[in-house]
Amino acid sequence: MENWKSLYIYFISGTGNAKASSEWIADEADKRGLKTVVQRIDRLEDIVMPALEDKPLICFAFPTHGFNAAPIMLRFIAGFPPGLGREVFLLNTRAGMKLYKLFMPGLSGVALMLPAFILWLKGYRCIGFRPVDLPSNWIPLHPGIKKKVIDSLFIRCERIVRNFANKILTGKKVYRGLYSMPVDMIVSPLALAYYIGGRFFLAKMFIANNNCDNCGLCIQECPTSSIMYVGNRPYWKLTCESCMRCLNRCPRRAIEASHGMALIFWIIYTAVNAQLFLLIINIFHVQPDIWWWIIVSNIIGIGGMIIVTTFLYRIFHSAMGLKPVRYLFWFTSLTALPFWKRYVPGKRNNTRNKSVLSQ
Ligand SMILES: Cc1cc2nc3c(=O)[nH]c(=O)nc-3n(C[C@H](O)[C@H](O)[C@H](O)COP(=O)(O)O)c2cc1C
Repeated sequence: MENWKSLYIYFISGTGNAKASSEWIADEADKRGLKTVVQRIDRLEDIVMPALEDKPLICFAFPTHGFNAAPIMLRFIAGFPPGLGREVFLLNTRAGMKLYKLFMPGLSGVALMLPAFILWLKGYRCIGFRPVDLPSNWIPLHPGIKKKVIDSLFIRCERIVRNFANKILTGKKVYRGLYSMPVDMIVSPLALAYYIGGRFFLAKMFIANNNCDNCGLCIQECPTSSIMYVGNRPYWKLTCESCMRCLNRCPRRAIEASHGMALIFWIIYTAVNAQLFLLIINIFHVQPDIWWWIIVSNIIGIGGMIIVTTFLYRIFHSAMGLKPVRYLFWFTSLTALPFWKRYVPGKRNNTRNKSVLSQ
C-alpha cells in the first residue's frame, strides 16, 4: 500500500453516473481511513485543491462525450496545477446498455488517453484508468432505458467501481481502459470532429415546449451556465455540452431536443457550405481533386456550421414566440413522443454523504 493520507476526487456529472461512481470510490476510501474530499468541478469558486502535506492521491471522474472526456473536465485537467501530488487515476462513465442478459459496453475513444497524457505532461503518474458502463443518458439518440435495466446496470457497476477503487487504494495499477484500445483508436477521429464541431451543433437542438413554466431550474442546474432567458423562454448557448441534465431533470418534461430543427440546420448548412465552395472555385479558378475538396470543405464546413446553426437558432428561437412555429419544432422532436422516456439514474447504495458537494 502506498503512503497516501488523503484522496481528492474531482468529478463532473450530467445526470448522476459519474457522481455515483465518485461516491462509491469515496466510500471505499473512507473505510480505509483516508481523508476524502469529493468535489464537483462545475462550481469553480468552491474548489479545494490538494495539499502536499496531506500526501494526496487524486482522482478525476467524468462522463464520456463524443468519444472524449467531457470538455469541461478536459479544461479542468488542462488547467490543473502541476505538483499538487504525484499519483492520479481516472474513471470515465460510458453508455452502458443491456440486450437480454448481455451487458453492452460504451466506447471511450480518447476519453482516458487524452487526460492521462495531459496529466503525464504535468508530471503526474497515472496509476489507473477505467471505463464504467453505467446507463446511457444520450436521450436525443434513444429513449430512456427501462428502470429494471438501469437498476441492474447500477448494481453491476457499483461492484466494478468499488473493486477498482480497492485495487488502486492498495497500490495496484489498473489499466483496464487499455482493453478497448484498438476500437478506441479507430473512433478517435470522431472524437476530434465532435470536439471541434459536433458538440456545437447538438447544443443548438434544445427547445422549451409549452409545458415550460419558467421555473428556472434548468438555468440554476446547468453545470456550464449555458442556459439563459431570451424573450421569456430558455435559450441554450454555444457553451452547452449537451450533458442532458436539463432535459432529464425538468420536472414538467418541458425540454426537447428538436430533431426537426436540427434537420433544417443541416439542410441549410449543407447548401451554404456548397455555395461557399463553388465561390472559392470560381474566385481561384481551381479544379480541386477529391482530397483537396474534402479537406477544404470540412474546414469551411465546421466553421460555417457553427455560424449557420447559431444564427438560425437565434432566429428560430424568436420565431417560436408564434404558436405554429413552436408547435412545428415541438412535434418534430423525437423526445416529445409519449414513449420517449427520460433518464433517471439508479439507486445509489453509498453510505457516505460528507464532503460531497451536492448536485
Ligand atoms: C452528448 C453525449 C455524448 C456521449 N458520447 C458518448 C460516447 O462517445 N461514448 C459512450 O460510451 N457514451 C457516450 N455518452 C453517454 C454518457 O457518457 C453516459 O451515459 C454517462 O454514463 C453519463 O454520465 P453522467 O450521468 O455522469 O453524465 C454520451 C452522452 C451524451 C449526452
